[in-house]
Amino acid sequence: MSAANHHDVLIIGTGAAGLTAALHLAPNARVAMICKGDLNQGSTWWAQGGIAAVLDENDTVDAHIADTLDAGGGLCHTDSVRFTVEHSRESIEWLVEQGVEFDRVPNNSFHLTREGGHSHRRILHTADATGRAVSETLTARVLNTPNIEMFTNRVAVDLILRDGRCRGAYVLNRDTGQVEVFQAEYTILATGGASKVYLYTTNPDGATGDGIAMAWRAGCRVANMEFNQFHPTCLYHPNAKSFLVTEAIRGEGGKLLLPNGERFMQRFDPRGELAPRDIVARAIDHEMKRLGVDCVYLDISHKSPEFILHHFPTIKARCLELGIDITRDPIPVVPAAHYTCGGVIVDFNGATDVPNLHAIGESSFTGLHGANRMASNSLLECIVYGRSAATHIAKHLPGTHEEISAAPWDSSQVTNSDEDVVISHNWDELRRSMWDYVGIVRTNKRLQRALHRADLLKQEIAEYYSNYRVHNDLLELRNLAVVAELIIRSALARKESRGLHYTLDHPDLLPEALDTILIPENYSPPTPENHSPKTGK
Ligand code: FAD
Ligand code: SIN
Repeated sequence: MSAANHHDVLIIGTGAAGLTAALHLAPNARVAMICKGDLNQGSTWWAQGGIAAVLDENDTVDAHIADTLDAGGGLCHTDSVRFTVEHSRESIEWLVEQGVEFDRVPNNSFHLTREGGHSHRRILHTADATGRAVSETLTARVLNTPNIEMFTNRVAVDLILRDGRCRGAYVLNRDTGQVEVFQAEYTILATGGASKVYLYTTNPDGATGDGIAMAWRAGCRVANMEFNQFHPTCLYHPNAKSFLVTEAIRGEGGKLLLPNGERFMQRFDPRGELAPRDIVARAIDHEMKRLGVDCVYLDISHKSPEFILHHFPTIKARCLELGIDITRDPIPVVPAAHYTCGGVIVDFNGATDVPNLHAIGESSFTGLHGANRMASNSLLECIVYGRSAATHIAKHLPGTHEEISAAPWDSSQVTNSDEDVVISHNWDELRRSMWDYVGIVRTNKRLQRALHRADLLKQEIAEYYSNYRVHNDLLELRNLAVVAELIIRSALARKESRGLHYTLDHPDLLPEALDTILIPENYSPPTPENHSPKTGK
């Protein structure tokens, strides 16, 4: 094990949430940032549609709040929704100050597009590659900020706990194969979501819920893990892995069609193609099963080629590579796992149950999304909570700076493994079983079956983990198994159908909307100095 890296703050993750926190911390703190592979490999880089904010003169904060609450199926925390939406304008101003170039109209005001659930045009975007613009701009800033040290190819394995506080993380250096100690007064989990737990997803490979699993092992409560958002329109093509077709296409008039050309969304919701995502994804799933077809179609070809090229250049180019000309042809699409609405419970500062540990972005549960996240609210949440966490931590620095003699990593765990085939089999089995049994439509029996599979896999994984070399695939599999279990247990606990959780055994809504809160065995209830985040709804 190499010598300890010692910083004021360790940020695990270099997506929108982590980058925002780092830039706000840098004037006051020495920051280390780590990411699993290269920079720009999180979900942020792939975000297409944009960022929701109240900027149109006909729009209001109250309307954005009302839409979010409506999409969230009665389970959003109104205080978190208000906190986030009220900070939307300044978040956009900050991004513009950093150099993000959002699309504008000829009078130089922002071009605002629409997405499902939004009653107004309020999505700022950079064509159909908004995440890339945000990610690359903030990354360039971070790389030019002396107080921030960036470490790529580093996988956080577990958090370091001392006297009940988080003091950093054990980190696998993928270049050397060694586990290093990153020591810090404060640690921020900005590790993104867990949609890779499903076989088909819009997410990049690293979205394996590592932060949620690490926080759970460290004693943090998690909430609402049953609410996995399936995006209605992922490109359906044998050579297109995980490629999203943005909801903004529907916002600009795109129609969903059955293979015979018939429109169908009006049969499910008066808002048609712009109903919230849970409704659209379920409608597509229903029609695909009813007709026994492999996909439905999204058609924007009634718009001019110039309009399509201007607004959707990335999607046009990618589809053309696969032989689909979206200016003439409808796009074959299917739903795929997209967003983890649940996560590590935090307060308005991103503080978790474990002192000195924060969580922000998709890994966290702030109460904003309720039972179904409204489109383009998540990048906003990353910016708002990235900033509030940084401000809170900066107020509490400098910390003790005591040198921690971290317990040495057990070197018996760092041996060679012949088990790669088994690990890859288990990856596949876990994700397939989640797709088949814990997908858009659930039943108790399917969930029990999935839980049984997840339990068996967990036992096998524990055996590899204690006997074999630690490497990225094994670490991700270990975390996926934890997250799968949290999702299934949460789904079994919810005896109703609400938002993204739909079960044939409990098709109705219960009168009271309550969060599903899971409590780990090593959870320490709050003390006066260890204030606890939310109690839940
Ligand atoms: P991410 O951007 O996912 O970054 C996670 C980071 O954590 C990465 O750097 C990763 O390497 C690192 N990491 C993870 N585990 C470890 C570990 N163990 N050790 C070290 N590092 C680790 N939302 C919107 O609001 N608008 C949109 O238009 C939009 N479009 C989307 C399109 C796609 C295709 C996808 C997949 C998502 C989209 N979303 C959108 C959702 C949004 O992009 C994400 O919720 C958001 O970007 C998450 O940001 P984050 O900072 O929390 O995590
Ligand atoms: C999209 O562009 O459709 C994704 C938007 C989101 O997930 O918020």
